Amino acid sequence: MKAIVQDRYGGLEVLEFRDIDRPVPEDDQVLVRVHAAGLDRGVWHVMAGLPYLIRLVGFGVRRPKVRVRGMDVAGRVEAVGREVTRFRPGEAVFGWADGSFADYARAPEDHFQPKPATLSFEQAAVVPISGLAALQALRDQGEVQPGQQVLVIGAAGGVGSFAVQLAKAFGAQVTGVASTSQLELVRSIGADAVIDYTRQDVTDGTRHFDLILDCAGRRTLSQLRRALTPKGTLVIVGGEGGGRWMGGFLRNLRAPVLSRFGGQRLRMLASKERPEDLQTLRELLEAGQVTPVIDRTFPLPEVPEAFRQLVEGRGRGGKLVITI
Ligand SMILES: NC(=O)c1ccc[n+]([C@@H]2O[C@H](COP(=O)([O-])OP(=O)(O)OC[C@H]3O[C@@H](n4cnc5c(N)ncnc54)[C@H](OP(=O)(O)O)[C@@H]3O)[C@@H](O)[C@H]2O)c1
Repeated sequence: MKAIVQDRYGGLEVLEFRDIDRPVPEDDQVLVRVHAAGLDRGVWHVMAGLPYLIRLVGFGVRRPKVRVRGMDVAGRVEAVGREVTRFRPGEAVFGWADGSFADYARAPEDHFQPKPATLSFEQAAVVPISGLAALQALRDQGEVQPGQQVLVIGAAGGVGSFAVQLAKAFGAQVTGVASTSQLELVRSIGADAVIDYTRQDVTDGTRHFDLILDCAGRRTLSQLRRALTPKGTLVIVGGEGGGRWMGGFLRNLRAPVLSRFGGQRLRMLASKERPEDLQTLRELLEAGQVTPVIDRTFPLPEVPEAFRQLVEGRGRGGKLVITI
């Protein structure tokens, strides 16, 4: 089968479009014929092996343990292992599987949910990683409540575009921060107000929010605290840049320490792929409360071009998808 493979960490030049053996599902696994695979920052970090911290937390010290890139996936079940009870060949599913930039990918059955009939494979494929991060940031770390004023920084991005819709579904009043060309998108997915970060500093102390989800820009903790109410909660989701060893992670580590002083809660997200949370997302998708936003699709051989757009930005907002 065809796949995007890398034998070493590095830039886009390490990615090869080549033939490899088709995976065989183990007893508890499902083999999926991949139709679409979402692209996100995490996949880029694993490709690059940066920050170095990620090499030490299980992705492979000298080279990536898993050679095929990609994680988010949607497709049809091709075959199932002997112990699999929930799926049969032919069913449309979405979920997460190591190595989804390939014709086929396999993973334990609890990594998958039935694909909502209302979604295309492309839409379903962008849900797991970004949708789970947004859900866990809002519900678990942010403890969002109906009626709260919620600020989503990076509202047009992969996580942010889910967070805006989920916060609305939880009954919050949502303000989205994005660049000029993406403001319309942020409004269209339900934000009550938008802020153009190229024209206005959201942390200038003139507005205060009960909950801030910080998905981009790496503003300092003291800047972000200025935009919180006295008992508000900040959830650090991410932000690119930073040093080669820790990336933006030092800020994440400082947040819980500073949180001990004063009434504001400063938290960091370390999202986890949880089957029950993917089911929650499926239910919200089926109810029409969340609709994945697709920026652009790329065929499998053009994964490097897709990574380029991911890193350089300048898209319309939403998620990038690889189609197979
Ligand atoms: N903690 C966790 O468990 C977890 C889980 C998932 C993701 N993450 C991290 O969370 C971050 C966001 O991920 P993502 O997939 O949403 O990335 P993304 O799709 O690249 O979205 C980032 C968005 O932020 C916007 N942006 C850039 N600079 C900004 C600024 N200064 N102020 C406000 N918005 C700005 C970008 O638009 P423009 O370029 O047009 O400005 C883009 O729309 C990444 O760093 C990712 O690694 C963390």
